[in-house]
Amino acid sequence: MIILKNREALQVHLSQYKGKKIGFVPTMGALHRGHTSLLVKAKVSCDVVVSSIFVNPTQFNNPKDFERYPIRTQEDIEALESVGCDVLYLPESAEDIYQNETDFEVDLGLLDKVMEGINRPGHFKGVMRVVKLLFEIVNPTHSFFGMKDYQQYLIVKEMVKQLNMPIEILGCETIREADGLAMSSRNLLLTLPERQVATTLIKTLEYCKEHIDLVPTEELEDRCFAMMKQYGDPEYFVIRRADNLQKFDADYQGEIRAFVVCTIGKVRLIDNLKVK
Ligand code: PAJ
Repeated sequence: MIILKNREALQVHLSQYKGKKIGFVPTMGALHRGHTSLLVKAKVSCDVVVSSIFVNPTQFNNPKDFERYPIRTQEDIEALESVGCDVLYLPESAEDIYQNETDFEVDLGLLDKVMEGINRPGHFKGVMRVVKLLFEIVNPTHSFFGMKDYQQYLIVKEMVKQLNMPIEILGCETIREADGLAMSSRNLLLTLPERQVATTLIKTLEYCKEHIDLVPTEELEDRCFAMMKQYGDPEYFVIRRADNLQKFDADYQGEIRAFVVCTIGKVRLIDNLKVK
């Protein structure tokens, strides 16, 4: 794997792949099997696979969360090498990404007026800023995102569409621990007892899936929220259309997902599941 620390070097290196399929997996590091599963997907369908590690300050609405974000570069490099990543963009400064940034407008409609869009003000603006810049630097043909961050996946897809970027955005399944907890870099911050309680997210999502046809939607949301409250500090538990994250009525036939955010100890955990 070639590690490049500035955009010029990266672009010179990638110029040899003109006309080829360039797969890109942006990350913030502290990599686990969730991240590497995206690289494995990219590896199967692309000629060259590029990843980036950059803990992006503009997407953290809570400065403490940014300060506490785990950094494990050496282990990350080994993880990327083990799945055959070809190129790692590891910018040595935020400036390398944000230099010459130009303004842009994307109308997300209602996509960022729900869930994380409300609870983490500015978060998706920061995500869009950095992902757009990374796309401009790497120029991928395909980019892979985890459906664990489902709202982020939909928003990146919409941004690329509105900005006419010729990039295919692929959503990949959530990878979980043996007990169902969605893999996350933040799981490293849980104490052992908190780690055990953290399975309440997936247990509640599974409960929701089992009851989706049996209990009216709002009642089921309330019931699931109350279940979470026994173990942590839930922010929301909502059941929404998978295509636009809005509420639906009885004759809606499309995919439905349940979305949850709950703080366990000091760690804010997020998960979602297709329930229909
Ligand atoms: P990060 O949280 O490091 O996640 C990088 C990618 O890995 C995202 O697409 C995320 O959805 C995916 N991912 C995380 N956990 C996963 C799991 N358990 N299963 C499958 N995929 C998983 O998301 C970000 O970074 C940033 O917002 C970023 C897009 C890099 C912009 O800064």
